[in-house]
Amino acid sequence: MSDLKRYLVPWIDQIKPYDTEDLVVAWSKPELKRMMINENPIVPSEKIVHAITEAAKMGNRYPDNGPRVRAKIAKQYDLGPENVYISHGSSEIIDMVMRLFVTPGDEVLLPNPTFSLYGIRAKTVGGSVVTVDLGSDLQYDVPAMLRAVTPRTKLIIVCTPNNPTGDFIPDDELMKIVELGIPTMIDEAYLEYHQEHESKAPLIRKYNHIIVAHTFSKAFGMAGIRFGYALADESLIGYFRKMQIPWNTSLLSIAAAEAALEEEEELKRKAAYNNAGVEYVCKELAKIPGVKPYFSHGNYVMIDATDAGVTGKEIVEYVFEKAGVMIKYFAPFRGRSGFFRISLGTHEENSLCVSAIKRFFEDRRKEK
Ligand SMILES: Cc1ncc(COP(=O)(O)O)c(C=O)c1O
Repeated sequence: MSDLKRYLVPWIDQIKPYDTEDLVVAWSKPELKRMMINENPIVPSEKIVHAITEAAKMGNRYPDNGPRVRAKIAKQYDLGPENVYISHGSSEIIDMVMRLFVTPGDEVLLPNPTFSLYGIRAKTVGGSVVTVDLGSDLQYDVPAMLRAVTPRTKLIIVCTPNNPTGDFIPDDELMKIVELGIPTMIDEAYLEYHQEHESKAPLIRKYNHIIVAHTFSKAFGMAGIRFGYALADESLIGYFRKMQIPWNTSLLSIAAAEAALEEEEELKRKAAYNNAGVEYVCKELAKIPGVKPYFSHGNYVMIDATDAGVTGKEIVEYVFEKAGVMIKYFAPFRGRSGFFRISLGTHEENSLCVSAIKRFFEDRRKEK
């Protein structure tokens, strides 16, 4: 047996892989309600399925880099196809920016809490993760982020609306980060749920260090199909190409994305369905004493049950055992251990989840 440690990158032990165990459980038991990973509960339209099937007929051929779909995406932002890089979901964009900017020991600045993949991919290239806690209102603490910048800061991530907290970073605060001139990825994974909010894409015209990332996994409902994209200055997209694994986006996912872009009404319908679910969950859970749901612009709701004297973990375990609903809890934050997140499901699933949480509190009252 070879002594692999002699050859592996020295930071390998720092890397904790992204945990997909809950997906293994969910796929093996289809009766479970998957409300733990910010999926869209609505299946792809017939048109999308048809586009994929047609593309599959040419599946013996390598794909190009999607000039048509890039042109369609670019048009939405009044940009050119040279400003668009398409990818295997936006996770690839997250990985790409780490590979482009971060060498061992460099720092990646992140809010906390946020999407865990940022930190994981930073560590895969030997980067050092610097986190800045959100404020007590779960808003970005930009002054603290600015103070955390050092000469080794190579990349800043701004997720807006942030996962799991659901709020946008205010424009003036974002601009303080942008003006630093440090490469900054603005992750707009959930923006399509609220089209009244404008994308930060226009920033790329003025700033060549800004990357705006999008995904079709959320409002478009194509997480399993895998399609995402980055918008950036043409020169930066050129660097993306140098790092790119060829044929990163399959013929099938390009076809699906093109079809999805034709279905504007379908996207609006999915967003409205989700947003009604967010309203419902927030309204119902706010009725429980000591439970605080945070209104979200994404397809998830963060809830703090600390003041009800319970941990997020206790609630998550209860709803799984009693109702077969999978939701997620978060590490204690600002001394509060009651955080958990519900990813919106169908209206029926949302109602099942809310009832199970209410029952959890009723049971506790009876026990006392
Ligand atoms: C903020 C954010 N960005 C990116 C992603 C990754 O999405 P995908 O790789 O499916 O496009 C997620 C997934 O949950 C997310 O929450």
